[in-house]
This record gives sequence, C-alpha cells and structure tokens, in this order.
Amino acid sequence: MGKAFLYGCATSAHQVEGGNINNDWWEFEQSGLIFDGSSSNPSCDHYHRYASDLDLLKGIGGNAYRFSIEWSRIQPVSSEFSQEEIDHYHQVLDALIKRGITPLITLHHFTNPLWLSKIGGWANPKLVDYFGQYVQKVVDEYGEKLNRSTGQTEPIYFVTLNEPSVYLLLGYLIEYWPPQKKSLIGLIKAFRNMSRAHKLAYEIIHKKLPNAKVSIAHHMSVLDPWRNNGLDNIAAKVYDWLWNQSFLNQVGDKLDYIGLNYYTRQRVAFPLKVFPTPGKEAGFAQWEIYPEGLLRILRRLKLYKLPVIITEYGMPQEANIAPEKYLEQGIAYLKQAMSEGIDVRGFFYWSLLDNFEWREGLSKRFGLYEVDYEN
Ligand code: FCB
Repeated sequence: MGKAFLYGCATSAHQVEGGNINNDWWEFEQSGLIFDGSSSNPSCDHYHRYASDLDLLKGIGGNAYRFSIEWSRIQPVSSEFSQEEIDHYHQVLDALIKRGITPLITLHHFTNPLWLSKIGGWANPKLVDYFGQYVQKVVDEYGEKLNRSTGQTEPIYFVTLNEPSVYLLLGYLIEYWPPQKKSLIGLIKAFRNMSRAHKLAYEIIHKKLPNAKVSIAHHMSVLDPWRNNGLDNIAAKVYDWLWNQSFLNQVGDKLDYIGLNYYTRQRVAFPLKVFPTPGKEAGFAQWEIYPEGLLRILRRLKLYKLPVIITEYGMPQEANIAPEKYLEQGIAYLKQAMSEGIDVRGFFYWSLLDNFEWREGLSKRFGLYEVDYEN
C-alpha cells in the first residue's frame, strides 16, 4: 500500500452536496420523515463549495479525503449517464490533486438512484449488474486521471459500499431508513446482492486499475456481554458474528485492505437485546464514548492479515465531548495499535463539516468545522 499515512476526513455526497433529488433518500425526505424537518438540500452546499471545503481540510493538515460519488447524479436514468455530472467529479478530483490530497472514493454511500429503488432496490439481483455498469463508467472516466496523479506507483483507493450491515439492518429489518422494509427474506436477498456487487466491482476496478486498493467501509462495534453469564456471553457472540463478521467474511477474499468505521460499544443480553452501557448513553445516537474500542477492534482485525484504513471515527457534538478531544483520544489508541505492529494505513475523521445526518437531519452535528446553515 501507499508510502504516506492517509490522514483526513470523510463525507458522503448526499450528506454534504445538496441538490441530490434523484435518489431514494430525497423521496424519503419529501414524505416528512426527517425528525427535525430539515432537508439535505442545500446542506453544506459542498457541490458548489468543494474547493473552499478542501482548503479547510488542508488547513488542518489533512493529506487525504474520503468522499462519495453520487450514483443518481451521474446516472439519473437507467439509459443515460450525465456528462455534466461526470464532469463535476472530474473537477472535484482536479481540486484534490491540485492540493496534493489523496482521494479515497466511495462508490455507494446509502443512497440509490430512484429508478433502481423503483424496481425493488438491493433485493433485486439486477442491481448487481447495474452497479457493475456504474463502476465501469467511473473507472473508465476517472481512471486515467487517477493513474496519472499517482504516477502509477501509489495506490488508488476505493470503497465500494459504505456499511452494508448498517444499511441492511436499518433498511430491511427495522424500517428506519429507506426502503423501510421489515423482511428477513428481503434482507437476505439484499445481503447476497450487495456482496456480489462488491465482488464484481472489485474485479472491474482491478482490471482497469491494477494499482487500486479496494474495500468496503465496514461498521464495527465492540459488543460486550451485559452480565458475565453464559447466556449473555452466547448472545454477545451471536450478535457479534451477525454484526461484525458476517458481511466481512462474505467478501473477505476480495479485499485489499479493511475499511473500518468505528464509533462505539454496545452491550448484549440474552436472547438478543442490544443497548448502550446504561448510564453512559451519549447524544442522540446513544453512543457510549468509548474510544478504547478502536484499539480493541484493531487488535481483532489482525486476524485478517490485511492492512486497515479507519474510514470513519467520530462523535456527535451533543455527546458532550469536543470533537478535537475525541479525535485526540482516537489518535492515541491508533498509535498504540500501530506500536503493537497492527498495520494501519490511514485515518479519516467523520466528518470534516456538520452535515445532513440522515433521518436525524441537520441538527445532529459531527463536523470538525461547524456549519452555519443560514448562511
Ligand atoms: C455512519 C455513516 C455516516 C454518518 C456517521 C455518523 O454510520 O456511514 O454516513 O452518518 O455514521
């Protein structure tokens, strides 16, 4: 993998860009389902302000930026790619290269083009081929530029899918996010199609860009048993397998590194009750502030014998810990992990800017930089 340690921040298109009106999240927002009534448009208006936002990243010493390409922008209908939107991401890449910032490109970060959600979304096996066509287009369009910028010696980093397990749980089991299903069969189908889509994308990217390093951004939590008894121990192991391991193991032979999104610890009680450590719930997401969990997860990942890039780490502002403090603690655990010989190649803080926190809207703030949405 690359020479320099990647150090920067992460964002995703729908959360920061504004104006993404051709995807399923926009439709979800239109039906009044965002808790604080806010909207992803214009959010931080990153679509127009990406250059000054990248200056902000540079200003805090970042050398890498994880961002996503919005599929529904570059392929708004099944039969057509939009050259204008493809050019937009050319400009974003130019702005990164000009600043010496290494891009890490996410290809799917929760949103789906409407024309795909209308045919059943990820439960439909056709999504696998459609995803392949989209990924092919991305590498055909940007491959040469990316190759040139790395002199064909440094890696080109990709995340195919952001947090498939989170997407599947929230979208297919608890009806919290689009497509708001509660269907084990739908979940299993979507799980299989997403893992196939990842593997297909992995092949497509490598064929075009032999220097590419491809992974998923995998959400992992520390899952400790609530009580120290046999049943809670078993429950914690079962849930750990479902949440932390099942998708990762499914795609494990097609990963060049492990992209890790780490946020918190949860407790598990028999039969399968999952909750934050009582008394330690923090902020809207009820995430216990538990940065040492990062070290615990990194130690576990040694098993896979792959380099790791921390693709997200962060805490909402209302958790009552200043972002810079939480960042500092994370870095300390990261250094500890590296001193133990764990092969970590990068760290991305979530997030550079406050942004549209999905169903929780704009009022939940995760940014190192605060955004004044009125101006
Ligand atoms: C992660 C998501 C990211 C953001 C953070 C707070 O699960 O990948 O988009 O919402 O949580």
